Amino acid sequence: MQQGWPSLSAYSTFPQQAPIAVFDSGLGGLTVVQALRRLLPLENLIYFGDTARVPYGGKSADTVTRFAREICEFLIRFEPKIIIAACNTVSALALPTIRSEFSIPIVGVVQSSALRAALATRKELVAVLGTEATIASGAFERAIRQFKPHVRVVQQSCPLFVPLVEEGRSTDDVIVRLTLEDYLAPIRQLQPDVVLLGCTHYPILHPALRNFFGPDVTLISSGEAVAGSVQQMLQQQNLLCTSRGRGTVQCYVTDFPQRFSSLGNRFLGEPIGNVIRASIEPWIGPTTPTTIAATA
Ligand code: DGL
Repeated sequence: MQQGWPSLSAYSTFPQQAPIAVFDSGLGGLTVVQALRRLLPLENLIYFGDTARVPYGGKSADTVTRFAREICEFLIRFEPKIIIAACNTVSALALPTIRSEFSIPIVGVVQSSALRAALATRKELVAVLGTEATIASGAFERAIRQFKPHVRVVQQSCPLFVPLVEEGRSTDDVIVRLTLEDYLAPIRQLQPDVVLLGCTHYPILHPALRNFFGPDVTLISSGEAVAGSVQQMLQQQNLLCTSRGRGTVQCYVTDFPQRFSSLGNRFLGEPIGNVIRASIEPWIGPTTPTTIAATA
């Protein structure tokens, strides 16, 4: 299917008022929602967290692509003007495939944060932290080099960060400190001036990472980077929301809505409201609609 901006007639309401849909494997994408709320406060947001299947970071490209496809099938029912794949693992492994299958724009987080990292480094040395799958894909390294070919990119996967964050461990937790030391001491020795947090969950550990790397290192999170690009894209298409009031955030998860609510407040920095549990049936063919069962 050809990707592009849908025609105005594709919407049952004014397309400017259509929501922005954001998805992630779990809670972490709320850091992207937070950045969107700061930059685009009028927009209505639909958030989907695949809490039943998190983490994605140790899964194969085929599985991650299938999950992303199922989520997009669910999200297009809301007639969003754009879908943000907030998950770095999805962005690194599945983006070209899912983009080719849906008719609305789907943006990932790799390109925008890679550009920021390339522009920010003075030493031409960037450290990328991510899940095992993201690091193995080499997507960040390729994207950074595409913007600045001479930059040296060092990478480190940090698989324990995601469960620590999903468990609600705070940044001054002794296990967090030890894990950081274990994964990142060799990277710190190389003295990069830019560290790219290539996973939605890592900005939650920002204070601990800041302590670890020191005040002179630039930490780049995907949330702010992608929010900036989405603002630009919507502006160019005249699709920015024009309402007067602050937009809403409606969250859907595949498991444990209560747990998502209580931990999510920390990620989002504001009360998260009612979270709805959604079960998404696998997409099985172009003529068979996906079944959506949503229960409060
Ligand atoms: N949300 C994923 C990402 O940004 C990390 C969590 C996971 O492994 O599912 O890569």
